[in-house]
Amino acid sequence: MAQYDILAKQLSDIEKAIHFYREHVELPSFFHALGPVNGKRVLDVGCGDGLYARLVAQRGAGQVVGTDSSSEMIRLAEAAEADQPLGVLYHVHDVATMPTMGEFDLVIAVNVLHYADNRATLDGMCERISSNLVSGGRLLAYVGNADVDREAARDFGFIVDRPADLGEGDPFTVTIRTNPPASVQVHYWTATSLTRAVESAGFTRVGWEEMTHSSVSDDAAARLGRLLKNPPGLLLSAYKE
Ligand SMILES: C[S@@+](CC[C@H](N)C(=O)[O-])C[C@H]1O[C@@H](n2cnc3c(N)ncnc32)[C@H](O)[C@@H]1O
Repeated sequence: MAQYDILAKQLSDIEKAIHFYREHVELPSFFHALGPVNGKRVLDVGCGDGLYARLVAQRGAGQVVGTDSSSEMIRLAEAAEADQPLGVLYHVHDVATMPTMGEFDLVIAVNVLHYADNRATLDGMCERISSNLVSGGRLLAYVGNADVDREAARDFGFIVDRPADLGEGDPFTVTIRTNPPASVQVHYWTATSLTRAVESAGFTRVGWEEMTHSSVSDDAAARLGRLLKNPPGLLLSAYKE
């Protein structure tokens, strides 16, 4: 069973634990980098419960499709769609093996590429993403910051159990401080490894987007400053020629 089939039951507690980061850094940075989506065809891979797919649809995307390897996460996404229809379609697919579902202008991959368990899987993910993009289409992907400072991560609600001297693609555990704690196994992909993998799949103009933030109260400014200095996620942008 996919690890997120189990975590799906704890999703609202997980969201609460990482809320400050999501609200003040992750979402503002993503939408700043994304720009207008009006009329665009968007594929959200590793869409989870559809948070980003729904936000992109609300911002005027022409067509939005979400995929995830966890049937439980897709069930949650479909429940949200049934509750408030936005026309988003969802399918259960692994990114590394998903079919070509159409011609998309944009693929978003939020916190998913770091689940690739080896280089062949990561290459498969990049190749399958490329095959779903039109020429000139863009990939915008949040990836775990492999070298995030452990103490800083704890401050944001994550416990990073990362042995020293990890090699490319090696597994390590990230635990979110819910009750009971929610652990996920992720893989060690540095920004350099990810850039290389995306370029190998034929993407060009590969770069790392600036992290930005929304405004916070004076009380929260120091916490925000620590987060910006040491973000748990990094934002990769690349184009298919
Ligand atoms: C951290 S969650 C992010 C969900 C969503 N993108 C968000 O940010 O709210 C990671 C998601 O990636 C999915 N996932 C992990 N590995 C995957 C794979 N190989 N193919 C498709 N989905 C995958 C998990 O099931 C989970 O829903």
